[in-house]
Amino acid sequence: MRTLFVSSEIYPLAKTGGLADVSAALPAALAGQCTDMRLLLPSYVPALDQARLTGRDVDLGEILGFGPVRLLGARTPDSDLPLWLVDCPALFRRDGTPYQQANGADWPDNHLRFALFAHAAARLALDRAGQDWRPDVLHLNDWQTGLVPAILAAQARPRPRTLLTIHNVAFQGDFPGGVFPRLGLAPWLYSPDGIEFYGQVSFLKAGIRFADKLTTVSPTYAREILTPKRGCGLDGVLGTRARDLVGILNGVDYSVWSPTHGLNLAARFGPQDLVGKEACKASLQRELGLETSERAPLLVFVNRLTEQKMADVLPDAVASICRRGGQLAVLGRGDPGIEARVRAMGREQPGRVAVRIGYDEPSARRMKAGGDFSLVPSRFEPCGLTQLYAMRYGAVPIVSRVGGLSDTVVDTDDTTVSTDTATGVVFDAVDLSGLLGAIDRAFALFESDETLRQVRRRGMTVDFGWSRSAVRYRELYELLAGTSDRAPEGRAPSIADAAA
Ligand code: ADP
Ligand code: GLC
Repeated sequence: MRTLFVSSEIYPLAKTGGLADVSAALPAALAGQCTDMRLLLPSYVPALDQARLTGRDVDLGEILGFGPVRLLGARTPDSDLPLWLVDCPALFRRDGTPYQQANGADWPDNHLRFALFAHAAARLALDRAGQDWRPDVLHLNDWQTGLVPAILAAQARPRPRTLLTIHNVAFQGDFPGGVFPRLGLAPWLYSPDGIEFYGQVSFLKAGIRFADKLTTVSPTYAREILTPKRGCGLDGVLGTRARDLVGILNGVDYSVWSPTHGLNLAARFGPQDLVGKEACKASLQRELGLETSERAPLLVFVNRLTEQKMADVLPDAVASICRRGGQLAVLGRGDPGIEARVRAMGREQPGRVAVRIGYDEPSARRMKAGGDFSLVPSRFEPCGLTQLYAMRYGAVPIVSRVGGLSDTVVDTDDTTVSTDTATGVVFDAVDLSGLLGAIDRAFALFESDETLRQVRRRGMTVDFGWSRSAVRYRELYELLAGTSDRAPEGRAPSIADAAA
């Protein structure tokens, strides 16, 4: 089974969120299941700095007027898997994040950057890069790779099969329709049956229309995105592909995310030995300038500061947290307006509230290890890795009942399950009152030492490792590779065939 895994983020080479973690851990888990797995990533500066370059580079020639574009041969730092970095200095060798400039604005040429990335993936997949390697399956991720199935749809058969994983349907890669001629696509693709979306070009719609199979990152989210409430306008298009859409829960790489190896922590600890967690809490309180108190329940929020994560509501919750004797520590970056409000909140309650604006992986670990509770009150959440990591570090999650959060956290009040399975506090009304109610329940749990210890230990021992989910992906790959190369239900075979 030959698979090309195409992603715009791979930890630790490039990361803005959970996509990077998945793109590092899932291919590694699949490689362990006898998949010839190779990866493709744009050659951002930090990726060039950290990847182990092999010197086995490939010239792809000119793409979209840029060139020569090269594939730089490399290996992934941790899993040692073959990796190609798509090198187009004009588009990728820049300071900033994969999608944004240092001032937080999107790169104005993101449509070209990720169209070029998609064309590079397609050339490699069609073995036009002289590698004598043709993948059976391309595993694509999010809108940044959404054009690949559209490019392949216009190619003569046989062509490799495609699987698109949607990590967040709220990010669609929509650009003004006027950019279409610059994308190097067959003209017939610019239609409502193709990738046109209300006068715009939608990279995610392209992937949804033309990928052979679709997955998303939790079973509940797979159902949610078929509804107008959560489909972000793409529920109709997704509905036409419902039979090809499946929710597979993300996993955790416990070699990276575990308090037992103590990476970046004041002390190691595990479910049977929580003394180290107390040391981590005290150390975190000192580090953040919080009052050093064992008896103050410490809530941590480590996430993007965006409306998705309900970060805008945190400042309204803080007075209540402090009045109840609690502490709040926040680490994040995101929406500038929310950042400003959260920063101000930190100044108002010194000793009780600490705010760090920025992105800092070691600090994220220390927060999870030191926190009593991890706040993940998202308005919607495709899967969420934060709550999974927090559970392993003994920070009991407080989560809203949406998407992957409801698939992974069992509420202490859930009467449909036996009481010895609860792992956190889950709340329904995704607003300030719902959040405050959940925090109240968490504080009550904190007062009850023995129950808290049980819930914490249980969360620390639940296994969200990748093995189960990786098997499901492998089965999908096998299904795709084994089926004939005909157009699946729900796409527009006649147009594609005419163009091929
Ligand atoms: P999303 O991908 O929607 O941002 P996830 O929960 O799936 O949410 O993944 C978030 C990932 O990013 C986790 O690995 C989390 O620890 C990390 N993270 C988020 N914000 C920060 C930050 N400010 N500093 C360090 N790590 C962060
Ligand atoms: C997205 C989602 C998050 C998910 C992550 C990895 O960023 O917002 O819920 O865990 O992708 O799949």
